Amino acid sequence: MSELVIKNLHVQIENKPILKGLNLTLPQGEVHAIMGPNGTGKSTLANTLMGHPSYQVTEGDILFDGKSLLNLSPAERSHLGIFLAFQYPVSIPGVTVANFLRTAVNAHRKAANPDDKGIPILEFRKIMKEKMEMLKVDSAFAGRYLNEGFSGGEKKRAEVLQMAMLQPSIAILDETDSGLDIDALRIVSEGVNTLRNKELGVLVITHYQRILNYIQPDIVHVMMDGRIVESGGPDLALDLEEHGYTWVREKLENGTSA
Ligand SMILES: Nc1ncnc2c1ncn2[C@@H]1O[C@H](COP(=O)(O)OP(=O)(O)OP(=O)(O)O)[C@@H](O)[C@H]1O
Ligand SMILES: [Mg+2]
Repeated sequence: MSELVIKNLHVQIENKPILKGLNLTLPQGEVHAIMGPNGTGKSTLANTLMGHPSYQVTEGDILFDGKSLLNLSPAERSHLGIFLAFQYPVSIPGVTVANFLRTAVNAHRKAANPDDKGIPILEFRKIMKEKMEMLKVDSAFAGRYLNEGFSGGEKKRAEVLQMAMLQPSIAILDETDSGLDIDALRIVSEGVNTLRNKELGVLVITHYQRILNYIQPDIVHVMMDGRIVESGGPDLALDLEEHGYTWVREKLENGTSA
């Protein structure tokens, strides 16, 4: 079975070390949550997994299906099935949601089969409509420019709509719950759950235990100072919500944690 294996990952941005020996294995079919204080490197990990050029890997490796991703471009990683829902999605004025999605779907088809002529427009519209209904987004959404003037919650739904269209093998959701109202949180989580299957591994980066009531994780990891310092079951998220991070930090300082 394929899995994402992150081994002793060290990453720096503009010569500033952010990730400092991070280890994590995400098998397909599992949902892992990452929680951790602000500025600890969670988005850095997400961006590095996707191959963002500003993030320099100085040591360690990222393996998917046993193959290193380090020399692959973001597009190549995407074609392999890695997907990132951004914490701060950017807007692309002039490119409609529908056009953006169709281009992305076609790029994936072409990567899998160079002779592919692209998804027939009617088939594309039908699938997009289904996914939009699942995520309860207004049909006018498809004709709007991507993220341009979208509310915080609409941007997050647009990210999950992309995930639904691309059907990745590994999905990284970077604070997809932040800015969602309670109903939207449930709808978006149900959307993710609909996509959950034996072939999908999900990494849910979040500050709040609440989303984990809907997207139930197999494992919860705590990230601190650029490393995973504690891992456990779903109860760990409840402990963190109740007691904060101080106890994890104290445990670390006393040298009793892995
Ligand atoms: N482009 C950059 N240039 C300089 N420093 C950066 C850059 N990107 C990230 N950093 C720094 O790296 C550290 C980790 O940031 P990161 O966004 O990964 O944290 P995070 O855990 O996602 O935090 P949050 O919970 O607030 O989203 C921060 O100190 C941040 O200021
Ligand atoms: Mg972040």
